[in-house]
Amino acid sequence: MTPRKPFTAVIGAGQVGATTAQRILEKGVSDVVLFDVVEGLPQGKALDLMQASPLEGHDRKIFGTNRYQDIEGAGVVVVTAGLPRKPGMSREDLLSLNAKIIKEVSLNIKNYAPESKVIVVTNPLDLMTYLAFKTTGFPKARVFGMAGVLDAARMRFFIAERLGAVPREVEAVVLGGHGDLMVPVSSRSFVKGKPVRDLIPHDELVKIEQRTRDGGAEIVALLKTGSAFYAPASSVCEMVKAILNNEKKILPVCACLDGEYGLRGIYFGVTASLGAGGVEKIMEIPLDPEEKKGLLLSAEKVRKGIEELERMMGTAK
Ligand code: APR
Repeated sequence: MTPRKPFTAVIGAGQVGATTAQRILEKGVSDVVLFDVVEGLPQGKALDLMQASPLEGHDRKIFGTNRYQDIEGAGVVVVTAGLPRKPGMSREDLLSLNAKIIKEVSLNIKNYAPESKVIVVTNPLDLMTYLAFKTTGFPKARVFGMAGVLDAARMRFFIAERLGAVPREVEAVVLGGHGDLMVPVSSRSFVKGKPVRDLIPHDELVKIEQRTRDGGAEIVALLKTGSAFYAPASSVCEMVKAILNNEKKILPVCACLDGEYGLRGIYFGVTASLGAGGVEKIMEIPLDPEEKKGLLLSAEKVRKGIEELERMMGTAK
């Protein structure tokens, strides 16, 4: 197994993991090592994806594996391993089960890919990213989470749909925790440079903001047996590309705060420049008073979640 460096390791070959691998390959971003604990699953999906390569016209390679040794040398490790919430399972049950998985995965990343940048995707996102940071012991610039690119893409699509605009020409920012209290920042959203607030009436924009917050739940309600994966995979791919190509692109990222917006010691959605070093710089953006209030409320919820996680893990250092 010899992936060309720099390559991406994707942990978890489920819906999000396999689709992320597909996006990375088919956009020619890097070779991929796809890891899962289920025997045959990553190997089968890797083979299927390789057989698509003559048709997709790329020369990237993907290797499926159940051995952590194979992620050795990865430039970026994407963590999608985890369980979805099942009927009858409480939020605490899910938190505790996924925390155990993230801890195990993080220890293996620390062991086998100690120089990598780590992008966490598993939910609850802000808490799992915090746990990966604590467990790997990596510098904070090298451990971060994917949520804001996805939430902003959802908002961009809803705005484009309302205005009949081209989705990629819509700019939007979503900050805060990846949950009910995330903050869609309409004051910093534009279509071809024009403020969205001048283009969409207030009451309709409020609905778009709420639909953005409910973006994941709307898809779960439709699918019934799983959660979103196409747009999450595109979002991870955007981040991997920014890192491996050292683009220094400014994207919404779940990053470790150190005084930004008056907040410290939590993982939280902010805008940051992503490049070869990982999160190279967090940018604070001006917010109106309502947005600022919403951001602090969201931060309070994340902080309580971290306290709960630390109580639960006991040794989560
Ligand atoms: N190590 C590695 N892989 C694991 C482990 C583990 N300890 N435990 C479970 N997995 C794998 C499963 O075998 C499965 O293939 O993680 C994969 C998860 O895939 P899915 O169940 O299809 O879940 P998916 O829809 O991909 O979501 C994964 O991303 O967006 C988030 O909320 C979502 O937390 C969830 C995660």
